[in-house]
This record gives sequence, structure tokens and C-alpha cells, in this order.
Amino acid sequence: MSWSYPAPLSAAQLAGIVSLPQLDALARRDLPAMAFEYVDSGAADEVTLRWNRTAYERIRLRPRVLEPLGPVDTRVTLCGMELPHPILLAPTAYQRLLHPEGEAATARGAAAAGALYVVSTQTTVPIEEIVAAGAASAGRLWFQLYVQLEREVTHALVERVEAAGCGALVVTVDTASLGARDRQRLAGFHLPPGIELPHAHDFSTGVRTFASPQRTALTWDDVAWLRSVARVPVILKGILTGDDAARALDAGVAGIIVSNHGARNLDTLPATIDALPEVAARVQRRIPVLVDGGIRRGTDIIKAIALGADAVLIGRPYLWGLGLAGAEGVRHAIEILRAELEIAMALVGRASLATLDRGVLWDAD
Ligand SMILES: Cc1cc2nc3c(=O)[nH]c(=O)nc-3n(C[C@H](O)[C@H](O)[C@H](O)COP(=O)(O)O)c2cc1C
Repeated sequence: MSWSYPAPLSAAQLAGIVSLPQLDALARRDLPAMAFEYVDSGAADEVTLRWNRTAYERIRLRPRVLEPLGPVDTRVTLCGMELPHPILLAPTAYQRLLHPEGEAATARGAAAAGALYVVSTQTTVPIEEIVAAGAASAGRLWFQLYVQLEREVTHALVERVEAAGCGALVVTVDTASLGARDRQRLAGFHLPPGIELPHAHDFSTGVRTFASPQRTALTWDDVAWLRSVARVPVILKGILTGDDAARALDAGVAGIIVSNHGARNLDTLPATIDALPEVAARVQRRIPVLVDGGIRRGTDIIKAIALGADAVLIGRPYLWGLGLAGAEGVRHAIEILRAELEIAMALVGRASLATLDRGVLWDAD
């Protein structure tokens, strides 16, 4: 089967897209069905996928008016790096499915919008080419690590991405097995011929799925080992409970990402915004806490920060942009969200991220 990409949107067409839901609708209309389904779908009955959105919609904001405000400032510092805004790109696999330049285009779009980009182990473009494409954003690339069966293979990968310039390792800990991805399977998801995985060929044989759950069994010992060999900070992605956050602190990690893997693994996990307060309460700001899952509006970011996050990541929205318009689409998706964040901060009467506390929530407990 030959694989074709849709014609990219023009600059004028892109400028006519004013929100992420609109970008979603266009992606649904214009992207090849298999690619859109791969991006859009969640696990099993997609209960968690819906909760990731409805949980944000349920939270009401509490504005203050007529307070002196000054210019809105969205800067944040993470692991010693100052970023112009708190919107990061979550690691997502197989991006050449969406655009011929794949992860290189994403790195360019991220750089143009000042966003930190976490590259997936399942990238379809080698890390060195992604770093070169994103060179404008010096140091704003992290690498998401799926720890592989053989320690030597993992170690070699760590050394390679560190040498390429990745500033942190984001270890995904919520994927002992891939979830029951029914919709993805029904869509006949597969990697078209010619799309390779330069860093993930040791996952398994043949179909490139994960090794069986019995064999993967990543443990806290692996995290300790990884910390002992890594020269960059190690961050854990996929923590949902206070107890695991406490273990992560004990393990000496540099950050936590509260994530349910975009609702793609275990269905009926809570929405991440509902899990965030418990994790933040245990971490007590000793290390950065980030959150992803369902962030589609600037107001969602305000809520995440008010409930204890230092920053957020988006997954599907930038993939819609990538599929429709390459690097420019990625940039546009980030800029829509950043502009909405600034508007919402002005309207709740808070000029900096540090001032976004529970007082901006109507039902703060
Ligand atoms: C198409 C797709 C591929 C993904 N691939 C990975 C991956 O390779 N590694 C990983 O840690 N998370 C992966 N994720 C999860 C994202 O990093 C992130 O947790 C999630 O997309 C955030 O939710 P959102 O899409 O609602 O913004 C993937 C998500 C999507 C949508």
C-alpha cells in the first residue's frame, strides 16, 4: 500500500485556525484515516480519554478584577533552564506517519515557538538530525527513554542522546505493556514501508511491539542504575500516586510527569488533573512536577499550575499541526495555546505563573 501525505495548509489557511479544537477537526477531515486514528485513539472504552477532558471542563475559575496587573509573564525555569512559557511537547512516536520530515519538523516548530520538545525513543528520525533541525532552541530537547531489555543497549542509547545534546532523560514508567488499543487495531495501524525506527529496533522482533509484560518489568532498581550511568537529569513520566511520587523522590529523580499516557494504556485511570494534587502534595516543590493529558485550552494550563504543576505537556495537538502543516503547524498549535494562556492570566488577574495558586479556582478546598 502506498502512503500519501495531504497537501500542507498554506500560511493563510493556518492563520485561519484559531483554536486547538478547530485544528483537531481539520486533522480529522484531512489526515489519512489510519494516521488520525492512531493519534486520536485511547485504550479500550476510552473512558479515561474522555475524563482527561471533562475533568478540566468541570473546574471553574475565580477571577479578581481591578488589581494592578502589569504585563503578563509566562516564563518558567525547569531543571535550571529558563523557558519563555510552560508548554512542552510530550514524546510521541512515529511522526513520519504524519509528515515526511517527522520529528525534524517538530523540532523546528518547537524551536520557533520557544517550546521544549521531548523526543520519543520511537522517533522515526535519528536524534542527531532532530538536534540539528531544532538548533535554534539550544538545549531545549529532552529524550524520552523506553528502557530496553538489555542494559548495554539502553546504556549505548543514553550515551548517544547525551552526546547529541539532549538535556534530560524522561523515563516512561507506565508502559510495562502497551494498553488494549482497540481502535488503533481496528484502524489497521502499521508503519508504512520506508518508515524506520533508528533507536528502537531492540524492542522486539517483527511487529515492533513491546516485549511481553513478563519480560519487561522495569523496576526502581533500573531507575537507580539509570541514574548511576546518566550524566543528565532523570525525570519519570507516568507517575499518578503520592506513594510513587515519594518513591521517586527517594530515588533522587530530577522531576515527575503526572501522566496516564494520553489515556492510551490503562483505561479507567483517573484524569491526570485529578491525580495531580496528590502528587504535588507529596513532592512539596522539591522537584518540578509536570502534567499532561487533555490540555487543549489556555485555561487548562492555569488549572494545572494552580493545582501544583510547574509546566504542562501537549501530545495530540501538535501532531495535528504537524500532519496539516509540518513545522509551521507545530509552531501554530503551541502559539494558539500560549496566546490563550496569556489572555486567561490577564482575565483571572494574575501576571505570573508563580501567582497562580488555588485562589484562582472557584471551588478550591
Ligand atoms: C500518537 C501518540 C504517540 C505517543 N507515543 C509516546 C511515546 O512514544 N512515549 C511516551 O512516553 N508517550 C507517548 N505518548 C503519550 C504522550 O507522551 C502524552 O503522555 C500524551 O499524548 C498527553 O496527552 P494528550 O495527547 O491528550 O495531550 C504518545 C501519545 C500519542 C497521542
